[in-house]
Amino acid sequence: MPQKTRKILVTSALPYANGSIHLGHLLEHIQTDIWTRFQRMRGHSCYSVCADDAHGTPVMLKAQQLGITPEQMVAQTRDEHHQDLLDFGVEYDNYHVTHSDENKELCELVYNRLDEAGYISKRIISQLYDPEKEMFLPDRFVQGTCPKCGAEDQNGDSCDVCSATYDPTELKKPRSVVSGAEPVLRDSEHYFFDLPQFQDMLQDWLQSGAVQPEIANKLKEWFEEGMHQWDISRDAPYFGFEIPNAPGKFFYVWVDAPVGYMASFKNLCDKTKGLSFDEYWDKDSDAELYHFIGKDITYFHCLFWPAMLEGAGFRKPTGVNVHGFVTVNGAKMSKSKGTFIKGRTYLDHLNPEYLRYYFASKLSDAVSDIDLNFEDFAQKVNSDLVGKVVNIASRCASFITKRFDGKLSSNVLEPELVAEFHQAQGSIAEAFEKRQYHKAIREIMALADKANQFIDSNAPWVTIKDESKQQFTHDVCSLGINLFRILVVYLKPVVPILASQSEAFLNDELSWESSQSVLTDHPINKFKALMQRVDMDKVNAMVEDSKENLEPTVTLDPNSPLAKDPIAETISFEDFAKIDLRIARIAKAEHVEKADKLLRLELDLGGETRQVFAGIKSAYSPEDLEGKLTVMVANLAPRKMRFGMSEGMVLAAGPGGEDLWILQPHEGAQPGMKVK
Ligand code: 2FM
Ligand code: ZN
Repeated sequence: MPQKTRKILVTSALPYANGSIHLGHLLEHIQTDIWTRFQRMRGHSCYSVCADDAHGTPVMLKAQQLGITPEQMVAQTRDEHHQDLLDFGVEYDNYHVTHSDENKELCELVYNRLDEAGYISKRIISQLYDPEKEMFLPDRFVQGTCPKCGAEDQNGDSCDVCSATYDPTELKKPRSVVSGAEPVLRDSEHYFFDLPQFQDMLQDWLQSGAVQPEIANKLKEWFEEGMHQWDISRDAPYFGFEIPNAPGKFFYVWVDAPVGYMASFKNLCDKTKGLSFDEYWDKDSDAELYHFIGKDITYFHCLFWPAMLEGAGFRKPTGVNVHGFVTVNGAKMSKSKGTFIKGRTYLDHLNPEYLRYYFASKLSDAVSDIDLNFEDFAQKVNSDLVGKVVNIASRCASFITKRFDGKLSSNVLEPELVAEFHQAQGSIAEAFEKRQYHKAIREIMALADKANQFIDSNAPWVTIKDESKQQFTHDVCSLGINLFRILVVYLKPVVPILASQSEAFLNDELSWESSQSVLTDHPINKFKALMQRVDMDKVNAMVEDSKENLEPTVTLDPNSPLAKDPIAETISFEDFAKIDLRIARIAKAEHVEKADKLLRLELDLGGETRQVFAGIKSAYSPEDLEGKLTVMVANLAPRKMRFGMSEGMVLAAGPGGEDLWILQPHEGAQPGMKVK
């Protein structure tokens, strides 16, 4: 009996817009994408949405560092992320961004409903504030000496040396990571969400099967400790949405990020005829809603988010599917070892479907970490996908093409073997449904072994030479191709590109139900190699490309000026060599009316005179300068300033104020001479 068609909406966690997609992200996006593709193949309606997570202090500071607006950075990063995901075959129905009109509206709606229902309160709290940068500091932007063991340079909330956790105000010798200044305590009014009101509802929801048992157990600790009011506001400057009727107060990024799931779906509904937002988000919706997330963000999705939804009168998730972290070669991903691999770097070297297959072969519904071991990766892909699956087709296809007119036989040999392939559908589907992908893969590969044994024992490369066995050979190769076809149906959610190339070869579109049929008298196309073996040289090249020399950042003293003002992007020697430095005599120097910092200089280049406005008033008076020789950039494009044209630049260096020096060549130098 065909199952009733389900209405499903799935999401992956929204990547922050201040860094690249890496293999850790990809585990989740691939897990989600396989599940989504599987549901669609089964005939269910399954929408998937994602977005970039645009807000918060780290995004704001990174944009400042880059000298662009956060909006510009977010738009650029969102496009990059989206393209990376598409190139891994991860296709969302909508990939949006949380800095969007839909999200602002929905955040305000959720907040206003929570406020009207009495779940929002205000109170003044005291927090560390950077007096130089004039901003409150999130915990991770404060460092200092551990209050427990005295280790230096520890983070604001925990010590890497003794594992103590503490409040950033307890740190000794605290300093702001942003400016190096010593933070001060400052009061500010914050907005709080009344999470404890939802304790009973959350306990019921967690016991309803919405999360894995280990997650439900872990969360019990929170209930035992007692729940707290959740601080949902942040003070300006903050890149985010302002809270209604609270000027200068912004929603904490973790408020608007999950609402971003709704917003991305809303944006999709606005573009899709007949798709109704309410059908999926109303309190009594009959649609299923699943969030795929990593274990580090469990609290937000399994406590705060369902409580927000409940309080605002929306439906709660049907399930939150939590996965573990990715380790590489048994260790945490490391930038210096080259195992912190960005999606784009992977794509520069390797086929994305290798990774999809490898992750699938290891993923279960448990929260345990997944290790990407490169030897195992190469071995598994080469032996399973290339050696077992693709090999079946390549062993049979050429005989069909060359000797049997490119057409499969009308006979079906070994109906029991075929029946076994058909029957596996149920348990493979169950494994995919339950996110036991490793089980599905194990079963599919066991079938692939059987298909290869069938071909081995019938040796069509031998029988083809025997005129009396032509029909038999045709039947063997045709069955081989049919078994390959069924395997590809089962693998289609995992390796969609391989599947689509196989469809072209088989001259057949593969649905989940295709696994229950056999093609007879059916023309196929010429076989082209469907997948190359993993080349370890390429794996090694990818690791090399991922190695970052972290020396400078590891040894950088947060008080160093470099921490505040990082060194700009490298320029080429050719760029540098374009600068034409010349000796110039300061023929005239004078104050500029209404200018605090500038002096007007007339520079004699030995044949040509230039007017230059120089910001050196704090260090020199005009009379100190007249008659002196200095060095100027002579080929700088003239710039129109408020006081007139500036036709070059004199070189001066120093920290500023009185400590600023112009370059002074020896007296014998000639104006106009090139400085090398
Ligand atoms: O942890 C993260 O990477 C967050 N950007 C995930 C947000 S998921 C959701 F709530 F939007
Ligand atoms: Zn410590």
